[in-house]
Amino acid sequence: MDLSREAKRTLDRLQPRLRTRFADYIAGHSEDWQKFESRLSRNFEDLFRILHHLYGTHYDFFYHIEELLEVLAVYWTQRNPELKLLDADRENHPDWFQSNQMLGGVCYVDLFAGNLKGIQQKIPYFKELGLTYLHLMPLFRCPEGENDGGYAISSYREVNPAIGSMGELSELAQQLRKEGISLVLDFVFNHTSNEHEWALKARAGDPEYQAYYYMFDDRTMPDAYERTLREIFPEEHPGAFTYFPDMGKWVWTTFHSNQWDLNYSNPVVFNRMAEEMLFLANAGVEVLRLDAVAFLWKQMGTNCENLPEAHLLIQAFNSIARISAPSLIFKSEAIVHPDEVVRYIHPKECQISYNPLLMALLWNTLATRQTDLLTFSMQERFKIHPDCAWVNYVRCHDDIGWTFSDEDAAQLGINGFDHRRFLNDFYTGKFPGSFARGLPFQENPRTGDARISGTCASLAGLEKAIYEETEREVELALRRIILIHSVILSIGGIPLIYLGDEVATLNDYRYREDLAKVRDSRWVHRPFADWEKYNRRFDETTLEGKLYTRLRKLIELRKAISAFGGAETEILSLRSKHLFSYVRQKRNERVLAIFNFSEQPQIIDGNEIRLHGLGYHFVDLVSSQPYSTINALMLEPYQFVWLKVVS
Ligand code: GLC
Ligand code: GLC
Repeated sequence: MDLSREAKRTLDRLQPRLRTRFADYIAGHSEDWQKFESRLSRNFEDLFRILHHLYGTHYDFFYHIEELLEVLAVYWTQRNPELKLLDADRENHPDWFQSNQMLGGVCYVDLFAGNLKGIQQKIPYFKELGLTYLHLMPLFRCPEGENDGGYAISSYREVNPAIGSMGELSELAQQLRKEGISLVLDFVFNHTSNEHEWALKARAGDPEYQAYYYMFDDRTMPDAYERTLREIFPEEHPGAFTYFPDMGKWVWTTFHSNQWDLNYSNPVVFNRMAEEMLFLANAGVEVLRLDAVAFLWKQMGTNCENLPEAHLLIQAFNSIARISAPSLIFKSEAIVHPDEVVRYIHPKECQISYNPLLMALLWNTLATRQTDLLTFSMQERFKIHPDCAWVNYVRCHDDIGWTFSDEDAAQLGINGFDHRRFLNDFYTGKFPGSFARGLPFQENPRTGDARISGTCASLAGLEKAIYEETEREVELALRRIILIHSVILSIGGIPLIYLGDEVATLNDYRYREDLAKVRDSRWVHRPFADWEKYNRRFDETTLEGKLYTRLRKLIELRKAISAFGGAETEILSLRSKHLFSYVRQKRNERVLAIFNFSEQPQIIDGNEIRLHGLGYHFVDLVSSQPYSTINALMLEPYQFVWLKVVS
């Protein structure tokens, strides 16, 4: 079938019906409707092709398309004028998120500031820090007790009453926008909670809603699927399915038992979730963090991760955004093999993406003091589509998974399996000489696999150093924290700070007293914000002050140097195995960044720097010291330089 012609015919057939249905609106807003139609015709073919691929064999395929077009029009007509202005602006500046002004922060509403009103009151702090992007962790209605930090969502349209209301959320989005901060929220679209209205109807036996999920009467299918599935939360429940005796059914639950995977092979589910997405966009959300993208599509005999249809689904959601909420962009959360992570990154799929590889390798490099795997992996894998950007982070609310590529490691003579064991030992403090205080997460005795929980400061050695009262270790720990932040602030893309890390927040073990949290060690690095700690941030005699003032300075430098924005990063190989280095370039501005990942001083010969043909005279932006390649360059333990080329 010629899909291009078919798409055109379909649109020609459906558009007049749409015009009839929205006649009143069009009468009063003809120019605005024109915009909708022109975006629709630009994007319809893409959308049609994808949906045809996914659902073309359904007998009522065209009915679903028609219904979807109505959804698109409804949400466009409901979108407020301010957001429509933003839409036009972002279409004219699609590279807005590549700017060196960008800085992200992420927090939980309740833990950081109590509620949405509290977050609004923290706007001056966000501005002080320099944020232009604020990710608020899931804030919607969710089950009491265990709810995976809000990732088990019971309604995408109701804010958790304990923290506020939908009205407050839209108001906050608007306030933030006025201050130059984009609101980022999760789109948790792989699953709903078992208390979502759809799940409740399914539980009550309604077959229409049971078809929103994956449900089986006995173990035949679950067993068949599980033959090739990875276990994601094995400590919580083995395999990927949970039995619900009230229904007498096994439900697909990749994550927790109360997170039910949605069945996207059902086109109704796609249309319903498209509505939920546009609802969030119209509330003023500018970036949607697409949660757990890898798991969206299931296919017997595969691991049900990263399947081609998962990509198609995201592209379809993206086309929908281009039509009805064009300023919205997507951030991919794919914490999987690096070959797979990059497949989600494309202007037509996810424009920005977590960089879990850089995150994991920064910690790897701190543990080994060897930069070879980091350098090699970044040389091979840092480059992405020029119209997209990495979101670079050192910690987030989740565990650290060692998602480097075994093939990359093997090229350097490293055995991936053994090395992950070492890293887990190191970061749980078992390895002799380790500076880290982390906890294992989801240890799987069957596979020997585990991931790591812990705050940035505790993993970087601060907790241990404070406990042992060694001043030198305290200083080294602070330097480690600054060193890895200095990479994310300069390597290109959007740096993202897990709020609390900037004031050296340590592990908080009190989660063990909370029944809803005790089974999930990630809560050790999700404490309540300690505002007394924050109040010490300008006092340089305190730990908080030492860290905060140094980080603030780096953030200011980032914002002053345009070469830290834009897309070009060249990763260099230096002779010393303890140094990591790259060149950032934008037009005539060039910065050579060099990072010492060991607690021993390192010396680089001036010739080696000259070899890279950047020039002879530099100034280190961090220390304001001039440097010339006539001399060797000395880097203190964990020191880094951002050398701006002068001539
Ligand atoms: C994502 C979230 C994580 C959550 C999971 C299930 O990975 O980051 O916190 O447990 O999805 O929603
Ligand atoms: C993610 C990842 C997994 C991660 C989990 C959240 O989507 O696949 O590795 O640890 O969900 O904790």
